[in-house]
Amino acid sequence: KTIHILNGPNLNLLGQRQPEIYGADTLADVERNCAAVAAEAGFAVKLLQTNWEGQMIDWIHEARQTACGIVINPGAWTHTSVAILDALNTFEGPVIECHISNVHKREPFRHHSYVSLRADGVIAGLGIEGYALAVRRICSLLG
Ligand code: DQA
Repeated sequence: KTIHILNGPNLNLLGQRQPEIYGADTLADVERNCAAVAAEAGFAVKLLQTNWEGQMIDWIHEARQTACGIVINPGAWTHTSVAILDALNTFEGPVIECHISNVHKREPFRHHSYVSLRADGVIAGLGIEGYALAVRRICSLLG
């Protein structure tokens, strides 16, 4: 019973990257918060990050066997990648799309998401708290 938390490009720099937009917390903080929320419901989490689109696609394929749900922050691939959408469409469990910033308040090119065509829910603009809320939602969907 493991929820995968998949992160796309530039999110390895979370905490250093444009902190006025993305905040000061790091992916290690995200993982700690999510693990605590998941543990309350008897789930585990595995957090991964890559700057390589093919790696992300391979991880989504692997999740078919090893994950009960996916929280994904696809970063800029949100707005560009049919391939990540197609990969997520091969996954049968719940998928929540999570953005740290409110993408709808930002540049028009961030307003469209390919991933939203698959996601069961979308969180944007709640900072890193959004990840833990997405994990909580997956736990309740899998009851
Ligand atoms: C992001 C929003 C994207 O538009 C951007 O390219 C990111 C991060 C977010 O978490 O707010 O890399 O997904």
